[in-house]
Amino acid sequence: MKRITAIIRPEMLEPMKDALIEAGVHGMSVSEIQGFGKQHGWKEYYRGTEVLLNMVPKVRVELVVADGEVEGLIDTICSVAKTGEVGDGKIFVDPVEEAVRIRTGERGEAAL
Ligand SMILES: Nc1ncnc2c1ncn2[C@@H]1O[C@H](COP(=O)(O)OP(=O)(O)OP(=O)(O)O)[C@@H](O)[C@H]1O
Ligand SMILES: [Mg+2]
Repeated sequence: MKRITAIIRPEMLEPMKDALIEAGVHGMSVSEIQGFGKQHGWKEYYRGTEVLLNMVPKVRVELVVADGEVEGLIDTICSVAKTGEVGDGKIFVDPVEEAVRIRTGERGEAAL
């Protein structure tokens, strides 16, 4: 299992949710974050205006998926989140050792 963490523009959350459900994901976690990348938050546009902040609002989407789903989901996320402008976001992939569905006690991929 892998955790895919996608940090995206807030306005991309709704289309991202739809695309990920369409792609068959079983669950996702979403949080509002602030951060910066290579430009340190400068020269980035947020909702059409240049922000003079060095922390830019973003949304973090986390998905835990089977290993074989990772590449397809990276393609899906990129196809929705990419505008081609700085600040489109980033995707990180980490290994996940275990998952447990608390209600049933199922483990591993069966718990996803
Ligand atoms: N190395 C990193 N570690 C942790 N979070 C990061 C890292 N790089 C970017 N982020 C997060 O991703 C968000 C979006 O980053 P961003 O898309 O600006 O990356 P970038 O490397 O500057 O690429 P670009 O040049 O396309 O803007 C940041 O606001 C921050 O929350
Ligand atoms: Mg950037």
